[in-house]
Amino acid sequence: MKKIPQTPFDVNQIRRDFPILSKKINGKPLIYFDNAATTQKSEKVIDAVCQYYKYDNANIHRGVHTLSETATAIYEKTREKVKTFLNAKESDEIIYVRGTTEAINLVANSYGRQFLEEGDEIILSEMEHHSNIVPWQQLCDEKKLKLRVIPINDKGELLLDEFEKLICPRTKFISIVYISNSLGTINPIKQIIHKAHEHEIPVLVDGAQSTSHMMVDVQDLDCDFYTISGHKLYGPTGIGVLYGKKHLLEKMPPYQGGGDMIRSVSFKKTTYNVLPNKFEAGTPNIAGVVGLGAAVDYINTIGLDVIAHYEHDLFKYATNTLSNIDGLKIIGTAADKTAVISFLCGDIHPHDIGTILDHNGIAIRAGHHCTQPLMERLGLTATARVSLAFYNTKSEIDYFAESIPNLFRIFS
Ligand code: ALA
Repeated sequence: MKKIPQTPFDVNQIRRDFPILSKKINGKPLIYFDNAATTQKSEKVIDAVCQYYKYDNANIHRGVHTLSETATAIYEKTREKVKTFLNAKESDEIIYVRGTTEAINLVANSYGRQFLEEGDEIILSEMEHHSNIVPWQQLCDEKKLKLRVIPINDKGELLLDEFEKLICPRTKFISIVYISNSLGTINPIKQIIHKAHEHEIPVLVDGAQSTSHMMVDVQDLDCDFYTISGHKLYGPTGIGVLYGKKHLLEKMPPYQGGGDMIRSVSFKKTTYNVLPNKFEAGTPNIAGVVGLGAAVDYINTIGLDVIAHYEHDLFKYATNTLSNIDGLKIIGTAADKTAVISFLCGDIHPHDIGTILDHNGIAIRAGHHCTQPLMERLGLTATARVSLAFYNTKSEIDYFAESIPNLFRIFS
């Protein structure tokens, strides 16, 4: 992979790049621990979107005028950037979508409808986000397919022996999360893909959480599909990426119809465009693409290896600190974890934890985190969740930890 020159990691300098981090919430400095829900945006990303609307705004692909050509060039250059970021073979394998949810819906509706037949089986895991369950359930209802679910142990790790037992001649697709948004478990995705490919089963990797925390090389993983949500990667909301192997994308029918995805239209017969346009019907989120490109540039100047190292150290510190708080229980203790810590404080409802912490300026998430089947497996309805990013610090974790005893006092 191309090496990008990086500046030394200085968290205080980095924090200055994110305007929102100097904001006060309820009179207290914001401590933003809800990064699994969405990450904050650097000034570079905000400026890029602003600059685009101020000086470069035009519709892409169809214009013959200069502005349209400029907008098209930015849009396509970003595709190249994302291709390099993921180490995809070709930029045609990079499809812009709204986010991971749309990416999975695209694959379920296009690949799934075309190639799966009654009685076929799809494997997911017990820790999937609703967006990697519901589109497959809808497909199962429509085509009379079966969902098979890889169980987890109490630590929140996949039971790989059980996974292998689920594979049978009717298994035609596997769709699985890389890093759990609720537990932080890092799944052994390469091993899963390898096993699936021994049986010629394609694998979609839900990369919504993983892409911001570790270097992802889709060729090395050998995944067939990989999804990104731009807003979880320090980019804007409403933009994401579906990576797919070209030979699969080429075989798949369009997901949506409209402008740009066609070669020619007549009332007798419509023919479709080539990749990637075939999957990008209508005017896309051009400003979102601009912001995503700026986010990728920003991450590259720091380096995902540097980010991963810093975040892992921070995560270990947070885990140790939280483990030492009387009455606080960490949910999800997989051996391979990062960035996310779900927890409970006695029988205080997670929503109450979130509300009280908010009074101290601390933003955490509370609820089922769009993983109700996982909560059911764990015998819970909700957890409180801290999720970290590279602009968080150990002193923020200390401040958070100091707030917990007060929480117990309030509810005692
Ligand atoms: N899926 C997002 C989360 O985990 C919203 O918070």
